[in-house]
Amino acid sequence: MARKLRVLRASDLNGTLQMKDVLTLIEQAFAERGLGRTQMPAKSYLRFPEHEGVLLIMPGSVQQLEQAAVKLINVHTRNPAEHGLPTLLSTIVLISPDTGEPLCIMDGAYVTGMRTGAAAGVATKLLARKDSRVLGIIGAGFQGPFQLEAVRNVLQLEEVLVNDRVPEKAKALAALATSLGLKGRACDTAEEVVRACDVLTTATPSDTPIVRNEWVHEGMHINCVGSYAAGKQEMEASILKRARVVVDDWEQASHAGEINVPVSKGEFDRSGVYAELPEIAAGLKSGRTDDTTITVFDTTGLAIQDVVTAWAAYRVAEEKGLGFQIEPLFT
Ligand SMILES: NC(=O)c1ccc[n+]([C@@H]2O[C@H](COP(=O)([O-])OP(=O)(O)OC[C@H]3O[C@@H](n4cnc5c(N)ncnc54)[C@H](O)[C@@H]3O)[C@@H](O)[C@H]2O)c1
Repeated sequence: MARKLRVLRASDLNGTLQMKDVLTLIEQAFAERGLGRTQMPAKSYLRFPEHEGVLLIMPGSVQQLEQAAVKLINVHTRNPAEHGLPTLLSTIVLISPDTGEPLCIMDGAYVTGMRTGAAAGVATKLLARKDSRVLGIIGAGFQGPFQLEAVRNVLQLEEVLVNDRVPEKAKALAALATSLGLKGRACDTAEEVVRACDVLTTATPSDTPIVRNEWVHEGMHINCVGSYAAGKQEMEASILKRARVVVDDWEQASHAGEINVPVSKGEFDRSGVYAELPEIAAGLKSGRTDDTTITVFDTTGLAIQDVVTAWAAYRVAEEKGLGFQIEPLFT
């Protein structure tokens, strides 16, 4: 029998999931990918140059879980000035693999924040030193609180250092850390953060390296979250040469991740990548093996992360009657 379509706005979704549960889901999804039991065709792009816009289409499914979804993300740079809309909008459509029915359409921001945080959290769990106590975050925008929450769940953090080119944003994220019982501190420079932290997360849209090689010390773990498109780069390429580099997916990372610029210049290639994180999650390769190696996780965001996180939010919404339902579209 046809099922109704649930509609979930951003306001319906906030707070539906616990980060510790999403960490488990994302680690499982990565393991499924490592074992070859997911589908994730390459992202496709529709470009609207006359509107300075691009639409990104991300389909994915996890066979074992009987879950599929398609995420649509648009980046329209003129939106705020000309239309009073955010630059970035995202929408996720959940598909039932058995019938192909769309079951839910939801705003994608909350799911993206949770799954992006959780990917860095899983990487931190598998790659960072267990005795890491200080988290550094460069870029305290929308992703910042999710990054903090994820890493806080996998390490016994004591201190969180934050830098943002907008000092108020750094202060707000540091204050959030303090409200969680940690020592939160806003730093004036990225250097101060990098030199003092055990685990670093970069989450800026920068296309000029912010993190300098000379600031990075032995035993550090770095989550490179911000690079999402060709030309983006948050740290000096020389750091990659010193590090054990793990990507979420070679194809995506080499075109759009932290490694994309060095790859395009011929300064880095696949032989410099130790593993894809799904291989480590599946137990096919080991994570951290000593206290001195610098580890780098380059994440571009996999569609399967959206699939499992969006389905989890949908299940909560079904149980609690969140959002609203409409009759099936095809009736
Ligand atoms: N890897 C993934 O899966 C994934 C998922 C979502 C977003 N992202 C990317 O992560 C980045 C951050 O996303 P967001 O939603 O938080 O964006 P945002 O615009 O809300 O925040 C970005 C923050 O970075 C700060 N910033 C910019 N340049 C800086 C610099 N040189 N030094 C210090 N701070 C700087 C800005 O002031 C802002 O606070 C974006 O590039 C986004 O595309 C990646």
